[in-house]
Amino acid sequence: MAAADGNALHVPVLLETCVELLAPALTDGALLIDCTLGMGGHTEAFLSRFPNIRVAGIDRDPQAIELASERLAHFGDRFIPVRATYDAVGQVACEFGKDGLADAILMDLGVSSLQLDETERGFSYAHDAPLDMRMDASAHGTAADILASASAGEIAHILHRYGEEKFAKKIAARIVRQRETQPITRTGELVEIVRESIPAAARRTGGNPAKRTFQALRVAVNNELGVLEAAVPAAIEALRVGGRLAVESYQSLEDRIVKDAMRIGLVSSTPPGLPVELEDHKPFLVSLTRGAMKADKAEIARNPRSASVRLRAVERTAPTPQHIALNSGENK
Ligand SMILES: C[S@@+](CC[C@H](N)C(=O)[O-])C[C@H]1O[C@@H](n2cnc3c(N)ncnc32)[C@H](O)[C@@H]1O
Repeated sequence: MAAADGNALHVPVLLETCVELLAPALTDGALLIDCTLGMGGHTEAFLSRFPNIRVAGIDRDPQAIELASERLAHFGDRFIPVRATYDAVGQVACEFGKDGLADAILMDLGVSSLQLDETERGFSYAHDAPLDMRMDASAHGTAADILASASAGEIAHILHRYGEEKFAKKIAARIVRQRETQPITRTGELVEIVRESIPAAARRTGGNPAKRTFQALRVAVNNELGVLEAAVPAAIEALRVGGRLAVESYQSLEDRIVKDAMRIGLVSSTPPGLPVELEDHKPFLVSLTRGAMKADKAEIARNPRSASVRLRAVERTAPTPQHIALNSGENK
């Protein structure tokens, strides 16, 4: 597939809004870290519209890095490809940012259209393919490995927690029954198992019934929530004062992680009951969106992927107070 196909393959979600939100931080010489490079749609727009910035584009998927690098080659050394998981955002800022900090950071979570369309990678329930779902094919453990080795309880937990699947226990029980006779290695087999596990009435509503199971397995295979929990605090920490972070989430668990991590900096940490706000306990972030922004009807019509987006953005207004350890998880 040619890199030039990138535009056709993945329309960047809420592109104009992301540009408007991050623009004030993108002064001459600025570094933007695009934590989810994908096909480079967002990155290309930023490099074109801000001729004096550089963008470091992170992706864990080597194929995304390769195709985006081709597409963005004409920007020369203004584009820096980085193959890593996005919790490495701090190291990337250290290496490429002025004083080791980034001016702006963007995260557009989830899978790309490229990954969904490459049927052999097993992300899509619409095509029969090996049950893989790794964003980085050199990483350990496919979806088939999980279905072969996890207990019924563990599988049900994954489907319920990451997919909010009502029939998680029934689907897990059928998976475990079926694997006793034959390993489950194809997406088509899993689609059929889900279909047979749920009541007939549920098969007729709400699109393909395997959608939630596939989402859940993808999240588990790639440890998506674990990496995100580390990455959002790391991104906040990597911003200079005046720097901006925008995050686009596509499911409620992701959005909750983003919201909770941002909240630590958005509220005062002065202990309740004190009559005055302590200077070093003041908020160090300000919100640039009212709650989570959604796409409007026109955007959804243009780009159906934007239907579930929740966009949150913040600006750093001060350094992190010393008593707050953003990356420790202790502040929740
Ligand atoms: C929705 S796509 C990004 C699309 C991109 N904004 C564009 O306009 O082309 C998400 C990308 O993030 C990558 N990704 C997902 N989780 C990641 C992680 N934990 N670390 C690094 N990259 C990740 C995926 O491989 C995918 O290419």
